[in-house]
Amino acid sequence: MKLFIDTANLEEIKKANNLGILDGVTTNPTLLAKEKVDPIAQLKKICSLVKGPVSAEVISQDAKGIVLEAKELAKIAPNIVIKIPTTSEGLKATKELSSQNIKTNLTLCFSVSQALLVAKAGANFVSPFVGRLDDISFDGMQLIKDIKLVYQNYKISTQIIVASIRHPIHFVEAAKIGADIATVPFYVIEKLLLHPLTDIGIKRFLEDWGTLKKTNIISKSKIKK
Ligand code: G3P
Repeated sequence: MKLFIDTANLEEIKKANNLGILDGVTTNPTLLAKEKVDPIAQLKKICSLVKGPVSAEVISQDAKGIVLEAKELAKIAPNIVIKIPTTSEGLKATKELSSQNIKTNLTLCFSVSQALLVAKAGANFVSPFVGRLDDISFDGMQLIKDIKLVYQNYKISTQIIVASIRHPIHFVEAAKIGADIATVPFYVIEKLLLHPLTDIGIKRFLEDWGTLKKTNIISKSKIKK
């Protein structure tokens, strides 16, 4: 499963990228607004940091406006993917952009029927929001399982980006289902690697090594640490 970071914050992107495990970035108007800088300039900087797909969302709601805005956003960098809301106007725009080889990520997807229609329109990616479904007592991960099943039934190539991830269990469940991508906020990425037994284990190994160092045995060894 590919790992995208869900943020528009350059420091977070740099830190995640430095781990050597980052495959892409997703942004949205809320995340860009949080940065309080020019969004186009920020997207340019993000695209220069990360080679993989970088999603930039349109604000227009009508198909014509979405297509025009998408073409402007696509000029930012070759790895820009246009994030479009899952609406009838969004579908029309997706069909048009797909015919012009502009990549799309259909966002705010909350049902299998939506996921099937965006695939038919030629979306490269679909973003079902698991956390927001959980928030209203629907099972977000069940939606991912159902979309995966339907896409497999018809050998659909639209990639599933599990979005609105709130904790490591969402990430693990997404991988168990076989989702293509999980887009994860930085505070969750940090938690993915943590395990108290790893920390306890390192502490014990170092203490035991320290005991050995107190003897003379270690000074005769090639390993001096
Ligand atoms: O990628 C979509 C994501 O940004 C939404 O997350 O936590 O606002 O539901 P959240």
